[in-house]
Amino acid sequence: MCAKKIAVLTSGGDAPGMNAAVRAVVRTAISFGMEVYGVKRGYNGLLNGDVERMYLRSVSNIIQHGGTALFTARSPEFNTPEGVERAAAHCREMGIDGVVVIGGDGSFRGARDLTNAGIPCIGVPGTIDNDISSSEYTIGYDTAMNTAMDMIDRIRDTTESHDRCSVVEVMGRRCGDIALNTGIATGAIAVLVPEVQFDFEKDLLDRIRYAQKTGKRHFIVVVAEGVGHTQEICDRIQKETGIESRVTILGHVQRGGSPTLRDRVVASQMGYHAVELLRDGKSNRVVVMKGERIVDYDITEALEMPRIFDERLYQIAHDLSR
Ligand code: F6P
Repeated sequence: MCAKKIAVLTSGGDAPGMNAAVRAVVRTAISFGMEVYGVKRGYNGLLNGDVERMYLRSVSNIIQHGGTALFTARSPEFNTPEGVERAAAHCREMGIDGVVVIGGDGSFRGARDLTNAGIPCIGVPGTIDNDISSSEYTIGYDTAMNTAMDMIDRIRDTTESHDRCSVVEVMGRRCGDIALNTGIATGAIAVLVPEVQFDFEKDLLDRIRYAQKTGKRHFIVVVAEGVGHTQEICDRIQKETGIESRVTILGHVQRGGSPTLRDRVVASQMGYHAVELLRDGKSNRVVVMKGERIVDYDITEALEMPRIFDERLYQIAHDLSR
């Protein structure tokens, strides 16, 4: 059945570009003749009826802002069979017959459960981590990488002035994509990611020592959050090489800020596609990027896809950082 009255929510960690996706959902729905509602604070808003009608002007002046105008949350209460049933019952009471969920894998599991409870859902990948296996790209990833790159460039200035080593931790709990890309872009001597086992002597100390012999005097090491032990890594570098070393944990600065052009455009494409699916009576689909094209997969199948780490890019990072 084609959806006529749809809702949109953002869930999990926020990501720059989520607002562009919300805007696209709202404006596409209106241009397809649907009624559209904004749900506040992720699935929590569906549980407690925090839902409001959205109009063309409701999403004015948000495309350039980071964060999410709908607010977001991780909702343990929704993640129970009773929670899902209550959210579905609220949707039925309000006459909502389609929901666009912008978030990560956890949010998609919720979308699948809500679909199974009778409310057709479509997922849109929004997370800075780029850790959604089914999609080559997630909304927020480009902005986060550019923010991290800019911050590391600044760290590099002071690292160079002091002949130091800076160990910079970037976000990415299960996924080293931000670390790998920013490591290449900032000329890091080493990049540590959760996907690849590393040998402290060979992959870190030997590289630093070799570069020192060729005249290099300052070093950047980029560590993905998921690797952990960033302070210990830094202390050990200082102890074993004698190079004064400092840790910087970039943290949530990477989650904020004005989205890049790429994030705004991809978010707009994905939001549009999501509403087209609901208009065409589809449900339990996730909108993804595949070879620069926007396509969609069954959510349940998408959640089971294995993540593919870019080994070649890792090799390039390795070979160039000398
Ligand atoms: O959104 C993904 C992410 O930023 C991860 O990189 C990070 O581990 C996590 O969220 C942090 O979550 P929170 O903001 O809840 O501390």
